[in-house]
Amino acid sequence: MAKIAPSILSADFANMERDIRQLKEAGADWVHMDVMDGIFVPNISFGFPLIQAVRPLTDMVLDVHLMIDRPLRYVEQFVKAGADWLTIHIEADQPHNTLEALEKIRAMGCKAAISLKPRTPAEAAIPYLDKVDMILVMTVEPGFGGQKFMADMMPKLKKLRQMLDEVNPDCILEVDGGVDENTCTVCKENGAEVLVAGSAYFKAADRQAFVKKIQA
Ligand code: DX5
Ligand code: ZN
Repeated sequence: MAKIAPSILSADFANMERDIRQLKEAGADWVHMDVMDGIFVPNISFGFPLIQAVRPLTDMVLDVHLMIDRPLRYVEQFVKAGADWLTIHIEADQPHNTLEALEKIRAMGCKAAISLKPRTPAEAAIPYLDKVDMILVMTVEPGFGGQKFMADMMPKLKKLRQMLDEVNPDCILEVDGGVDENTCTVCKENGAEVLVAGSAYFKAADRQAFVKKIQA
């Protein structure tokens, strides 16, 4: 069964506690939190204070997706703020700094993940394959919710699954961007085990039914 990680980027920020508690009632698995710095992506979302505020509200896994430049500078603070899984972008720094950041995340007992923007090929993940617990394949350009799903990312997803099966079979794959009750199928067929859904989840008339469709 696949997992769903609703992205609170599309939640009602004035009612964050309500929306966080409602995730569990709807049967969702993880809470996806998108941190944007206005440099790595052309948008600014939120930082440590929101993660610290959400942490005591739920026992759900906090899946923190850093869309920030040179994340090595901040990974310790994000783990301390309450992240259970911390994802950094491989385009955001030099490889030696990315490797150091992944080591730091794991040394603190947090799960480490890398993410690939749409134009980054699967081969760019090679130096990190055995050093991560998850790879996040972006199915939109990072920065905003509500964009159209890029089905042409599916061969990359499949290729990463094949590459991981050889060196790190326990590593899981996550997809993020434009996932809904239709696009989820092809993601799962190509190896996605965790599916992020922002706008589609929060717009769903029946969130419980939506969650079940993604998990099926
Ligand atoms: C985009 C973010 C996503 C976003 C997904 O940069 O990483 O997590 O919230 O939103 P939807 O599901 O609306 O595409
Ligand atoms: Zn995300």
